[in-house]
Amino acid sequence: MCGIVAYTGSADATPILLKGLKSLEYRGYDSAGVAIQTALGTMEVLKTAGRVEELDALVAESDITGHTGIGHTRWATHGVVNRQNSHPHVSCDGEVALVHNGIVENYLELRTELAADGHTLLSDTDTEAIVHLIEMNMRAGQSLEDALLRAAGRLKGAGTFVVSARNEPGKIVGMRTGNAGGIVVGHIDDGNMMASDLLAVLPYTNKVVYLDSGEQAIITNASVIYRNGDGDVIDKEIIISDRSAESAELGAFPHFMLKEIHEQAERVASAMRGRVDFETGSLNLPEIPFTDEQIRNFDQVVLVGMGTSLHSAMMGATLIESFARIPAKAENASEFRYKNPVLNENTLVISVTQSGETADTLAAMEGAAAQNAKQLAVVEIDGSQATRMADGSLLVRAGLEVAVASTKTMTNTVVCLYMLAIHLASIRGTMSQEARKAAVSDLASLPGGIGSLISQEQTYKAIAERLVTRHHLLYLGRGFMFPAAMEGALKMKEIAYIHAEGYAAGEMKHGVNALISEDMPTIALAPAGPLHEKMVSNLNEVKARGGQVIAIVTEGDEIVPSIVDEVIELPAASEALSAIFSLVPMQLLAYYTAVALKQDPDKPRNLAKTVTVE
Ligand code: M6R
Repeated sequence: MCGIVAYTGSADATPILLKGLKSLEYRGYDSAGVAIQTALGTMEVLKTAGRVEELDALVAESDITGHTGIGHTRWATHGVVNRQNSHPHVSCDGEVALVHNGIVENYLELRTELAADGHTLLSDTDTEAIVHLIEMNMRAGQSLEDALLRAAGRLKGAGTFVVSARNEPGKIVGMRTGNAGGIVVGHIDDGNMMASDLLAVLPYTNKVVYLDSGEQAIITNASVIYRNGDGDVIDKEIIISDRSAESAELGAFPHFMLKEIHEQAERVASAMRGRVDFETGSLNLPEIPFTDEQIRNFDQVVLVGMGTSLHSAMMGATLIESFARIPAKAENASEFRYKNPVLNENTLVISVTQSGETADTLAAMEGAAAQNAKQLAVVEIDGSQATRMADGSLLVRAGLEVAVASTKTMTNTVVCLYMLAIHLASIRGTMSQEARKAAVSDLASLPGGIGSLISQEQTYKAIAERLVTRHHLLYLGRGFMFPAAMEGALKMKEIAYIHAEGYAAGEMKHGVNALISEDMPTIALAPAGPLHEKMVSNLNEVKARGGQVIAIVTEGDEIVPSIVDEVIELPAASEALSAIFSLVPMQLLAYYTAVALKQDPDKPRNLAKTVTVE
């Protein structure tokens, strides 16, 4: 989860580290720190509980300069949020500094052993054990890279490590074990960098190398050496990233989440650009790596993801099953990875992930690879681990999403899954030409429809301001609207801290009706479509029990508005597109509720955007 950045070169390291950490804050913002090899030959550590701007202030007060340094922004796993537990951690003599992302599962055993050997551990973290192991190995005469390699061999659990030592000036060593987030090495003309995320490197270079599990990168001002897990030097291909250095600028918006919600009309058009031919009703998806024969042979599709991405996966499964007539299901990756699923070479596993670095999703992909399933990643971040593990990637093209709460990436992901479902259906011959053309031409309404929903945000804001006194909310939907309801509830929970449940409306009579009262408003997703009448029955039942209902309906609906308390209207659309449209007002409802409750919607408590640990 944590953000890591490291630099060595001719420039002053600290501003580069701080800029990198600011761009990585979405990975964790409990605390931040840097360790600098100074011009005086010392190793200086500045760290603080709190956000990068607090570290910035500390740096500004100090007169530390140096050309080699490592930095970290933390999402706490072991040990409370305080200065002592923040990274970088240093060895007893203060000469070795380490930043880490991941979990050391056998840390208690290691800490006990180290303490018995005379090491003084100052924090409560798992990480600190590693730097003492490295110190021990260096005292035995090993180089920094060998000491790290040997130390990593003692650790259980996946991790990424970046380390620097005072007596090896100008050198930084990075290493990755397993799938706990990656390390990208940036080759710069007058220096070199490493980071947990391409974003921190792109302002300086687009020449990058990703470390695979077990590999090390040893960077100095003038050189980069790669080694495998045996310590042998290896060649790694330098990739030229075509992702541009998008800067995280708020512009006129008070929060990134609001900015990203507003970008959706334009971003959804990018997802379709060059892929949809509205005239012929056909799709062009050259990034799908499977032959027509392989596609015809698929006998099941399993979509894996977590959180919002799981909700997108649920919508994708319904789309693929209904258009391409392949049995399709969505699985929570953290459950799927520990099952013993039946997969084979005729199974298509689709990993749905904004970051492409979610630990559980990557573990599910590893399991799928072990059973020879075909794999596709539907992903935002090109070059992420998911893109490197899958046979091919469908990039969702939502653009940099800074807010922890996913908004535009979900919209674009569902649009990509919709296009994929039609693509599979075309090859399998499961959709008539007429139906395919209609499904494709429906997509044309998305940018305008989303734009018109956003233009009504003052209406959603007014509703949100009435929700702030509530402690519980129910989101109900059927069919495509069920995952949409779960997503609406997730948004409300994660940024407004209001307990919200997303339920399939048909479940109500099986237990949840007991909760209905005037204290628990229902947000009901009831657009036009084959399940409209069923939803009307559910809403009558909620009203009959004194519940307050805010309904999301299709414009022109005359039935639901006569039953419920408040109405939000969506443009007329198919069921699937109505589900996409419904996301927008629910995102804005959550956003304005959080703002009215004076919460920071961009950095919700206890959360990080990229979850690289289990
Ligand atoms: O990067 P991923 O899409 O794999 O992340 C999965 C979840 O952590 C993520 O979707 C999360 O639920 C959302 N950011 C919540 O808004």
